[in-house]
Amino acid sequence: MSKFRRPLWLSVSLCTLAITSLLVPLALRSQTTAPPPPAILLGTAWYPEQWPESRWDADLTLMQEAGVHMVRVGEFAWSTMEPSEGQYNFAWLDRAIAAAAKHHIYTVLGTPTAAPPAWLTQKYPETLRVYEDGRRAEHGNRQQFNFANPKYRELARGIAEQMAKRYGHNPWVLGWQIDNEYADVSFDPETKAQFQQWLKARYATIDNLNVRWTTAYWSETYSDWNQIPIETRDGNPGLLLSWKRFVTDTWRSYQKNQLDVIRASSDPRQFITTNMMGWFDGYDLDIVCKDLDLASWDDYVGEGQLDPALNGAAHDLTRGFKGKNFWVMETQPGFVDWAPINNSLNKGEVRAMAWHDVGHGADTVSYWQWRSDLNGQEEYHGTLVGPDGTPVPLYPEVQQVGRDFAMASPVLAGTTVKSEVAILHSYDSRWAIEWQKQNGEYNPVSEIISYYRPLRAITQSLDIVAPTNPLDHYKLVVAPGLNVISDAVAKNLIEYVRQGGHLVLGQRSGMKNVDNGLQTERQPGPLVDLLGGRVEQYYALVHPVPVQGQFGSGECSLWAELLSTKDNQTEVLETYGKSNGWLDGQPAAITRQVGKGRITYIGAWLDADGMKAAAKWMTDISGVKPALGPVPDGVEVYPRYGDHGTVFILVNFSKAEQTVPLPSAMRDILEGGTKDFVTLPVYGVAVLLAPPQ
Ligand code: GAL
Repeated sequence: MSKFRRPLWLSVSLCTLAITSLLVPLALRSQTTAPPPPAILLGTAWYPEQWPESRWDADLTLMQEAGVHMVRVGEFAWSTMEPSEGQYNFAWLDRAIAAAAKHHIYTVLGTPTAAPPAWLTQKYPETLRVYEDGRRAEHGNRQQFNFANPKYRELARGIAEQMAKRYGHNPWVLGWQIDNEYADVSFDPETKAQFQQWLKARYATIDNLNVRWTTAYWSETYSDWNQIPIETRDGNPGLLLSWKRFVTDTWRSYQKNQLDVIRASSDPRQFITTNMMGWFDGYDLDIVCKDLDLASWDDYVGEGQLDPALNGAAHDLTRGFKGKNFWVMETQPGFVDWAPINNSLNKGEVRAMAWHDVGHGADTVSYWQWRSDLNGQEEYHGTLVGPDGTPVPLYPEVQQVGRDFAMASPVLAGTTVKSEVAILHSYDSRWAIEWQKQNGEYNPVSEIISYYRPLRAITQSLDIVAPTNPLDHYKLVVAPGLNVISDAVAKNLIEYVRQGGHLVLGQRSGMKNVDNGLQTERQPGPLVDLLGGRVEQYYALVHPVPVQGQFGSGECSLWAELLSTKDNQTEVLETYGKSNGWLDGQPAAITRQVGKGRITYIGAWLDADGMKAAAKWMTDISGVKPALGPVPDGVEVYPRYGDHGTVFILVNFSKAEQTVPLPSAMRDILEGGTKDFVTLPVYGVAVLLAPPQ
């Protein structure tokens, strides 16, 4: 059965609803005010359209008893909102929002455009996307729409506008989620023509494009824009990068199409977001987020247990999109249904993860989903309530999260994350490395994490931002694998170092230009002069290579760059041991002081101990201090700063109870009292308020 087919009980009542729902809804008129929501919200995805209304109150009561303050509703309900073209049925949604409000639960509305109804795609088949192999998608799943199709955009705008006009001033509606996890693109001829137009706008002349893509290679030379194909894997690197940029701009305009009508008809207090996807790299998420009020993402562990560094870095990445607190719009109640093994998080881990989220700057943690769908593709997914409508074993743990949030909300209100160190993240660079890995095991995200993990352990707080962001407030900026360096990025980085910052470039940096072509200088391209050194040659490694120096004695693997110094102020930090002959005894990491600033290049993928030592060296020399102070291994520290002091969230992800001494007396928000140390069981959490110094 398709997940979009309506249950019988709903079909029967549709005709009556369609007429009444065109009138101004009484339930909404009576709701003129709502109290301000708590600072930290617990939420869940709720699909009232799948359940008899007689059941809603029982579900909302259970939600309220769990401390839920927010439901996200509507994001796949197009066939219920508009059962046939132009015939709207919003009465059920009016009542759902009002029913939630009676339980002091706010609503976030999703526009339903990730799941077009069957009548729509049947009538306008051109709105269905085309796969890369030329097949057209069909109804029966979701995301079957064509993101570039004008008719689809018209229809999507239409439903978004209907919703905005109806709920844009509803005091219980906190904000909007546009669509759901933008991901799948279309390879139809119309989209290809749009891509060719996009190229024309970017490159102006076909000769310019030919030069910048070096199309004389393999006779790729174009004499007409309409000769240019779409390539996603094996094409010219300039073509590959351009397609990704086109996809980015097309998702941005797809989003703006709905955003504009929502903004025009809604209160400014209602935010507009979309749910992003962590490390997903289908397009540049940073650029797509630019027009939104708030960044949010869907935070799933999948198989295994939470890796606080890998997951925490995805939080920091999302926070970096808008440079402020964000939302976890979806997260797993225990387990998912799409990983190779859908194991459950351990008892206590869901609560620990919720606090890990808030620690990284999330102001909302929302579980997907409330209750098992009775049919549909996701019957096995974790929920808070089973198909029988009674709580699953995880429910009491989420209830505790609800109680925690209620206690901590007042002190967390207005607090934000601040860091002295930033890691630079560039989609262009990730794509460029992925398309030409040179070592099949090279993973650009793992490279980022190899720096992030030890740096976070030392600093206890990191930002992840785009390389074009302002950097002057950071003491240390680390750029692992910054493969593509545009002129604008080069300028930003050079300026940062000249003004006294410390820039560390990781292996594979500065190889490519803005068109994904090779820089005409050796790596790091436009930063060679500043560094007073360069990469002479890169080597993909089959076997690890010994490396020693400032970061101790260890090994590097996967990748080694032979560095040289040309300036006598450039120091060698690390050298390779005996290897392939080329690398033996040659520099692996170099650094140069530039006035009050410094630039460092690390050309080898160091082992974990080497990375720890490198992180210690770079933070020491840059004057970076830990936010709280030393804590036992496996205890995560998350500071959030506000006018009333610093809130330190501590979570014990180690395998044993841990005692953490505190540098000063702090108020224990969850347990009460003033503490100068805390003892945390496995997955234990402490929320501590340190008054302003
Ligand atoms: C998300 C999606 C949700 C649900 C969830 C299951 O990617 O937005 O609708 O499918 O995955 O884990």
